[in-house]
Formats: sequence, C-alpha cells, structure tokens
Amino acid sequence: MANNSDTLKQNVMDAITAANDLDTLESVRVAALGKKGAVSALLKSLGAMTPEERQEKGPLYNGLKDNITAALTARKSDLEAQALESALATQALDVSLPAPASAPLLGRVHPVSQVLDELIAIFADMDFDIAQGPEIETDYYNFTALNIPEAHPARQMHDTFYMKKARKSVLRTHTSPVQIRTMEAGDPPFRFIAPGRVYRCDSDQTHTPMFHQIEGLVVDETTHLGHLKWVLETFLARFFEVDEVALRFRPSYFPFTEPSMEVDVPYHKEDGRIVVGSGDEWLELGGCGMVHPVVLAGAGVDAGRYQGFAFGMGIDRLAMLKYGMPDLRAFFDGDMRWLKHYGFLPFDVPSLAAGLSSGIVGR
Ligand code: PHE
Repeated sequence: MANNSDTLKQNVMDAITAANDLDTLESVRVAALGKKGAVSALLKSLGAMTPEERQEKGPLYNGLKDNITAALTARKSDLEAQALESALATQALDVSLPAPASAPLLGRVHPVSQVLDELIAIFADMDFDIAQGPEIETDYYNFTALNIPEAHPARQMHDTFYMKKARKSVLRTHTSPVQIRTMEAGDPPFRFIAPGRVYRCDSDQTHTPMFHQIEGLVVDETTHLGHLKWVLETFLARFFEVDEVALRFRPSYFPFTEPSMEVDVPYHKEDGRIVVGSGDEWLELGGCGMVHPVVLAGAGVDAGRYQGFAFGMGIDRLAMLKYGMPDLRAFFDGDMRWLKHYGFLPFDVPSLAAGLSSGIVGR
C-alpha cells in the first residue's frame, strides 16, 4: 500500500502541474479528494484496518491528503493570477463609465474647525503664538485670578457649571483663564491667542451650553489701546474678506480689564445675505480691554513696566456670521445632513485644528 500511495501521490501531483486551467484543476481535485476520489478511498480503507495497521497508515494517508490540498491551492492561485494577467492584457478597460451612485462618502470639515483654522492662520501671520488651558478649571483661574473675587456679582453673569466632586472646580466659562496660566508659565512680552471650548448653563437659538471662544493677549512695555484696535480691525477685515471693517467700541465692564469695551461690527443685508464690514446694523462679537494691573501682578508680571490688552470673541458666532448659519444649536447636533450642507470639503493638507487638539505649544 505504501507504494500504492506513493504512486498515487506522484500521479496526482503530475496532474496538478499539468492542469492549465481552473476547470481541469477542479476535475483533478474531484478525482483525488472528492467523495469517490482516490485519496478519499485510501482514507476510507483505514476503517477496515487493524489498530496497528491504522497507526502506520493513518499519518501517511492524512499527510498525502494535506500535501495534495496544499499543491491544489498553490496551483489554483497561480492559475487565477495568470487568468487575471491575460484578461488585463487582452481586455480594454472603459474608464469613462460613470461611478456607482454610492460613491465613497467624503467627510466634511465642521464649520467650527474650518473657522478655527482660519483664525489661527490670520493670527499666526500677525506673529501670535497659540496657548491652551484645561476645560475643567479651578475657581482660582476662572475667577479669582481674573479679579473676580468670591461673592462678586460678575460670577453670577457666567451661569457657571460647578463640578460636583472636585470642590472649587468649574467648567471654564471663558478662555480668559489661559491668560493667567500662560503668563505664569513664561516671561513677558506675550503675544498669543487661546482658542477653545467654554461652557455656560444656557441654551437658545444663539446660545449652547458648550461653545467656542478665542482669547487674545498682548503684553509688552508700550502696548496700548491703539494696538488693540488695529489688531481687531486687521483680523476682522481678513476674516470677513473685506477691505475694511469700521468696528465700534462700546464702553463696558469686565473685572479683568480697565478700560473695558465691547466690540461691535457693522453689517448690512444684500439679497437677504448678511455682509459684514459696513452698514447701519451692529453685531456684538465679544469683549476686550487693557489688562487690569492687578491681573498682571497676580500672574507674576511687573505691572509697573508692562501693560497690554486682551480680547475674547465667540468663534461659533464668527462662523454663523461668515457662513450664514442661523441656528447655533444645529452646530452640535451631529446631523449629517447639516454637516453635508454647511461643512467644508477637506483639503489635502493636515488641519491646524487637528494639530491643536493633539496639544500645541504654549509659551
Ligand atoms: N472673558 C470675557 C467673556 O467671556 C471676554 C473678554 C476677554 C473680555 C478678554 C475682556 C478681555 O465675556
């Protein structure tokens, strides 16, 4: 029998090598391993053997089966590759056929990410660094260090989310704490923006419990209010892609700036679209002012020698204005139809926003 199985093996292997197409190969497989195949018959004969015989022949026949199976598989993939090669060589490929209706879904860049990229690019051109701080903030950085002591009425203006477990921790209500953290960690002069998420217990068409702000801080020996006005005018003109934005400062109050102002931009409507830059209507964009000396001193900056300005603006609001999106709540609903409509096609460049969320340099 050993000789039998050797001969059988040789015959089958020769037939496999000789098979020049998949059909022939399949008939070789059936003749060897099919129900009535020669190898199957050998395996079946094990049942009628004595245990001693079976111990000898079992491994032999099973090994034979394994070898043949492996040879069949190898030959099959060879023949398939050959078939593909010759199809490619002989058949023309019609690349003008329309793509299937279910073309792969291309993702969209969320308007907030898009605007964040734009902001960063514009301020980077003006040589601003980017700073970041935690979203779970201590009472000290969110309020006290910004000259908002406990029981100060300004704390009520912020509709703060307080953390239950960590006492004296809040979800930061503005990006201003990053002013303090960044000043503490470095030495003047400073010139940076700090974009990020902020939280307030508030919800209607123009307010969501989470939204985005961009903070700006410039501190140097001779920095003055005129610089503040120039930076905001330059930024807004570039952001809204107009020649000039005749912005308006309204006197206001923030405990961490003195004097304090609110920034309004003019707009008018053209064919129902909002055009920012000029007009009789005004939109409030954020707050700003000269940094209060108490705040500078508290963050370790020599307030006798240095002075500077700060501003804080709503990023979502900038996005709504520039791209004409009426309802802020839709920003964060995660509705794919909204994103498809208002989102941006990604360019083939790494997103600055992606870099930001993975942690960027402070100073
Ligand atoms: N932090 C203020 C707010 O959220 C805005 C602001 C920033 C005002 C910097 C002045 C200077 O309302």
